[in-house]
Amino acid sequence: MYGALPDRNDLTVSAQENKSDPLVLFMPSGKRGRFPVGTPVLDAARSLGVYVESVCGGRATCGRCQIEVQEGNFAKHKIVSSNDHISARGPKEERYDKIRGLPENRRLSCSAMIQGDLVIDVPQDTVVNAQVVRKAASDRVIERNAAVQLCYVEVDEPDMHKPLGDLDRLKVMLEKDWGWKDLLVAPHLIPQVQSILRKGNWGVTAAIHRDMDSSRPFIVALYPGLKNEAYGIACDIGSTTIAMHLVSLLSGRIVGSSGTSNPQIRFGEDLMSRVSYVMMNPDGREAMTKAVREAINGLIGKVCAEGEVDRHDILDMVFVANPIMHHLFLGIDPTELGQAPFALAVSGALQYWAHEIDIDVNRGARLYTLPCIAGHVGADAAGATLSEGPYRQDRMMLLVDVGTNAEIVLGNRQRVVAASSPTGPAFEGAEISSGQRAAPGAIERVRIDPVTLEPKFRVIGVEKWSDEEGFAEQAASVGVTGICGSAIIEVVAEMYLAGVISEDGVVDGSMAERSPRILQNGRTFSYLLHDGEQRITVTQNDIRAIQLAKSALYAGIKLLMEKLGVEHVDTIRFAGAFGSFIDPKYAMVLGLIPDCDLNEVKAVGNAAGTGALMALLNRDHRREIEKTVAHIEKIETALEPNFQQLFVNAMAMPNKVDAFPELAKVVTLPERKVVSDDGGDGGGRRRRRSRD
Ligand code: FES
Repeated sequence: MYGALPDRNDLTVSAQENKSDPLVLFMPSGKRGRFPVGTPVLDAARSLGVYVESVCGGRATCGRCQIEVQEGNFAKHKIVSSNDHISARGPKEERYDKIRGLPENRRLSCSAMIQGDLVIDVPQDTVVNAQVVRKAASDRVIERNAAVQLCYVEVDEPDMHKPLGDLDRLKVMLEKDWGWKDLLVAPHLIPQVQSILRKGNWGVTAAIHRDMDSSRPFIVALYPGLKNEAYGIACDIGSTTIAMHLVSLLSGRIVGSSGTSNPQIRFGEDLMSRVSYVMMNPDGREAMTKAVREAINGLIGKVCAEGEVDRHDILDMVFVANPIMHHLFLGIDPTELGQAPFALAVSGALQYWAHEIDIDVNRGARLYTLPCIAGHVGADAAGATLSEGPYRQDRMMLLVDVGTNAEIVLGNRQRVVAASSPTGPAFEGAEISSGQRAAPGAIERVRIDPVTLEPKFRVIGVEKWSDEEGFAEQAASVGVTGICGSAIIEVVAEMYLAGVISEDGVVDGSMAERSPRILQNGRTFSYLLHDGEQRITVTQNDIRAIQLAKSALYAGIKLLMEKLGVEHVDTIRFAGAFGSFIDPKYAMVLGLIPDCDLNEVKAVGNAAGTGALMALLNRDHRREIEKTVAHIEKIETALEPNFQQLFVNAMAMPNKVDAFPELAKVVTLPERKVVSDDGGDGGGRRRRRSRD
């Protein structure tokens, strides 16, 4: 039988390596070591701290320990690897193959023995699709080291001469076979132990949860016979959308992903109105807590149906959320977060039993929340930080999650700073006269001809551009109903590039002579984007709303850059659904983000959700982000004397004082022209931009 499993953090590479022993390299971890001929590959992996799953304890029945031999000459590693360097399939593997099927190139590492130099591939089966609600953003492989481990044992039958209890004999075997010491038992299991042991004919699988190495391990579930699957949930509770992954804790495979609207919207559209709701209504907090927990339970039902998984097989959960969603979900009053000094009730990572939070999964399931960074920079930003890892690299990385409150993280290996900036809901289409959420019928892309000032656009749900033949027919079913967030950025940027608006964001009324699309509304002007069943215009007020939002974001970013003493950033990551749809070029033309090589500006989808997934599949990531968050410097933008000036500078397009040399390489920015607030051309004065 395969012996006790050492904790990966307690591992020391097997002592005196003998130079004549075969050299074994494990991929993708890259860990390597020499082992005597005849060592089971699983033993070798464990002794190097390479994570290979095992439930049956080396009985060759669970099939979780599969590996592949990579054949060839790996000159860089001085290894010639071959299937001849591993023992031939023995009776145990043949039996497994007959019952369950073992692909030809796969081996059970508990049975296969090292015979010569090898390069071993540990299949991760962990392709993570970071998209939850709308669009795939990135795939990545997460090395597994889940907090829950399934351990099969065969327990001695009771003996009148040895009065040790059934549960106690179970613990003895878990220590003997798996090395688990000091086990605690979830209280609800104690009355069930005897019947489960007998049902399994003394062979049972215990689910052991241990998050921190310093914490005592817990038996959280017990199954008769061999239980070969356990699942986890990674969930991002956004103020608008809740996004969830259902994941196999043993293979790392995502078996279901879904999203739903946050039902708290009925209590308040944005975060602050939800805090107000709590303050104004005696049971407001309770009602919102109940609503979000119900939605999460509903979503669990949905992902379980998609993955054909029994919700009671869910044993671990990780949640990320902004501070107010985090507090409401956990049943904490968020009132303090509504006013300075924006005190969090708790900022550190938390552990619960899922049932304490009314989550209907296995009774023994655990629930972990990532730490919050600050009063307005939550566990979601911590998740995105874990996912993108500015602290893991030398380059200066800017990570932005644009919502009604933008969360901004900036830094590198040396130092990381974070802040939030109140962008308001304009980027999501609210406060915009023709704004709407991204849905069929919403304009999502816009181009304006700088000569004719005629627009063309694309609508969600319609393939063709509006100037292409057949557009009207295709659009007839969905209509052209409004402008979504990504298009608001584009249309304002295109209006600026076409000269319809000045650098200061004023619609140039003199353009009305050139185009019937410039309409006068009293003292200001607007731009007619579409004249159909619904008239879609971009008004002076719309442009102001976008300017205010983008200035708040940019000023927050600049403040962090000033804190770090940097003039430019090397790479920019846009997290969140909004970031997936805006074109980085237009975001820069408008001055949402600082100048940067456009190839280095990337949308990363639901990075917060990806961070939750990482923390679910590998408990080391929990320690990593807890440590990182403790070192992130939090900047409160409202208290910074310079913020106002940075904000005023950022009202201009792209910015009154900052240069955009990288942007200028790909976009010709218009000459500066001054247009007075009433749309006049300010006496026709025009001058070159000083930086041009
Ligand atoms: Fe279960 Fe190898 S450890 S089959």
